[in-house]
Amino acid sequence: MSIVFNKTKWTFTLQTRNSSYQLQIGNLNYLMHLYYGPSLEDADLSYQIMQYDRGFSGNPYDSRYQRTFSLDAQPQEFPTQQQGDFRVPSIQVVNADGSRAFDGRFQSYQISDGKYRLKDLPTCFATENDHVQTLEILLEDAVSKVQVTLFYAVFEETDVITRAVRVTNGGTGTIHLQRIMSACLDFLNGAGYDLVSFPGRYGQERQVERQKLTHHVHTIQSVRGTSSHQQNPFLILCDHDATEDHGDCYGMAFLYSGNFLAEVELDQYDQLRVLMGIHPKQFDFALAPGESFEGPEVLMAFSAQGLTGLSHLYHDFFRTNLCKSKYMRETRPILINTWEAAFMDFDDRKLVEIAKSAQQLGVDLLVMDDGWFGKRDDDNSGLGDWVVNTNKIKCGLDTLVRQINDLGMQFGIWFEPEMVSEDSDLYRAHPDWVMEIPGRHAVRSRNQLVLDLTRRDVQDYLIRSVNQVLDSANIVYMKWDINRSITDIWSNALPPERQGEVYHRYVLGLYRVMDRIINTHPDILFEGCSGGGGRYDPAMLTFYPQYWASDNTKPLDRLKLHYGTSFLYPISSMGAHVSESSPHVPLKTKAVVSMCGTFGYELDATRLNADEIAVCREQTELFRTYYPIIFFGDYYRLTDPFQTGNFTAWMSVTKDRSAALVSVVVTNLTVNGPQEYLHLKGLDAKRRYRVGDKNLVLSGAALMHAGLPIPREVPEFSSMQFYLEAVENVPTEH
Ligand code: GLA
Repeated sequence: MSIVFNKTKWTFTLQTRNSSYQLQIGNLNYLMHLYYGPSLEDADLSYQIMQYDRGFSGNPYDSRYQRTFSLDAQPQEFPTQQQGDFRVPSIQVVNADGSRAFDGRFQSYQISDGKYRLKDLPTCFATENDHVQTLEILLEDAVSKVQVTLFYAVFEETDVITRAVRVTNGGTGTIHLQRIMSACLDFLNGAGYDLVSFPGRYGQERQVERQKLTHHVHTIQSVRGTSSHQQNPFLILCDHDATEDHGDCYGMAFLYSGNFLAEVELDQYDQLRVLMGIHPKQFDFALAPGESFEGPEVLMAFSAQGLTGLSHLYHDFFRTNLCKSKYMRETRPILINTWEAAFMDFDDRKLVEIAKSAQQLGVDLLVMDDGWFGKRDDDNSGLGDWVVNTNKIKCGLDTLVRQINDLGMQFGIWFEPEMVSEDSDLYRAHPDWVMEIPGRHAVRSRNQLVLDLTRRDVQDYLIRSVNQVLDSANIVYMKWDINRSITDIWSNALPPERQGEVYHRYVLGLYRVMDRIINTHPDILFEGCSGGGGRYDPAMLTFYPQYWASDNTKPLDRLKLHYGTSFLYPISSMGAHVSESSPHVPLKTKAVVSMCGTFGYELDATRLNADEIAVCREQTELFRTYYPIIFFGDYYRLTDPFQTGNFTAWMSVTKDRSAALVSVVVTNLTVNGPQEYLHLKGLDAKRRYRVGDKNLVLSGAALMHAGLPIPREVPEFSSMQFYLEAVENVPTEH
């Protein structure tokens, strides 16, 4: 049983393989949080809650003259509104009578087998091998009759607990929901924790910042209409002295692609509250009597094995419980993308030439990027007109794809469905389909406007026009891009009083379009993109097996980017290509870096010389050999590229620990510096491994504890890969 209700203590214990989570129906039927951390089996943690008369922290009226019970000083599952808790709240609602209060008390609960579902939002799922149970708890405000249902799904073997929330208007007048957080995690004492977040910018996504908590509200957020380059909807709380290998680490990842807010508040008594949900900026959702609103899912994980342990939980979960695409299991093609090779300056002949050359590299698939449709010779026109430009693709799409297929290559295509150029037939026909505030001009970005995806007619146009192209030829890959942030929050299809719903309705509309295009094409490999990795979030990965990690293909920058991304996202999700950028870095090193990802090319293959072709061919072959280790193995960060050092290293180990791939990039060479040793991880200490093709056989213990010497008399920016294979019956050297 993963969820147990103790009828005497009124506690719910949520039990995974290595963690316990406990809550209790407490004083006055408030839902109290008792514990989240290493497994405690059926221990009752209610003794943890102490009550004192805390000055300036009020007491609920029905606690009578008991001055020791204040919500301001109690850990809760769903913090109320205006009930004496001055910390950040889970909800802000304007009731039908204009009052702003929510006093949620326990009403009922239900424990069931399997995973709960949300109506319009993407969620993770249970596979047939998972043992999953759901707990639903209903809270109600006795006056307004507003009801809140808290959802918890416990993935026992994978050590993940998911949360979501539903608000229902059980009253008789319309209410306005202005803030709804999907999950709250209260710690009785959180002074010893660090907060790790993943800020960035265009071209430098998901860098890593770690800070000691101080007494204020730390916020991680996006108000750009998408999950953004600037922050990622993910945070880690860890022991102040936690390392990659040791220490308690809590993760919270938000399955949502729009505005989000995570608040981390260390309060006056060192209590710690973490909230995660849709950002309340310009959010005002009207609910008529009987209507409900669902808040997106949060994936919580706990590991006592440090940051690597936490990453492994998420990587495994993302690889099995997030995306239903067959490409999560089947081998994906190695692709070449035309963007950096030709930008928008290509025609059918040029594409066939690139495909011919790419084929010699061992590439499987050619992706025709931006520029193939409408009138699109630069980024000032054409978006929205999803019809093939026959001035460029003179032979037509189907014939072009056949020519590419005849070379033994597959074909993929680029779209940016959510956008429109003012210079396009679509805009001329439907100027009211863009997001633009009446009487004002919309903000342009990359000279394009945003289509109003809250509208059904816009959604249906996109579903129809994209599907038509996808079905018109043998297309096996689609890159789905979005190249600006969202502004001008207004929909011509909604009345003035519902404009506070636009941000969220846009995201719901997008999910509907994605569902109708992606889920109806199970044989197409979809890759997400947003000016690189601007909307690389867990919800997007329920649709796409992979995401273009960044437009920045400089290998040394990529080392940091891949490192930061790897805290949450598996390597198999990171789109990474070899390009012509950083000419001083050898082609081989670029390939090694791209193998920390989906691996592919982003260059003009027709310009490569014979030596370069040979290097590329060797690299594609190696990638295919290492594919199972990279895509399905356990990934270890061996160095931190944000710290000064001479090299960056990482490795992947197969689940059965029979093989591993160690990658090293020399980023700096100290003249006459010390010999350095790389301490490997995740190997079986007792087994022996052959290192590379040398006759060197070493024990896992030696490789992990004594380390592997990294040759230092090598050119700067060179790289090394060490393939380790467990061998039996071979005498060990050490
Ligand atoms: C974005 C993407 C690029 C490329 C261009 C095309 O910037 O990230 O990879 O597709 O758009 O306009």
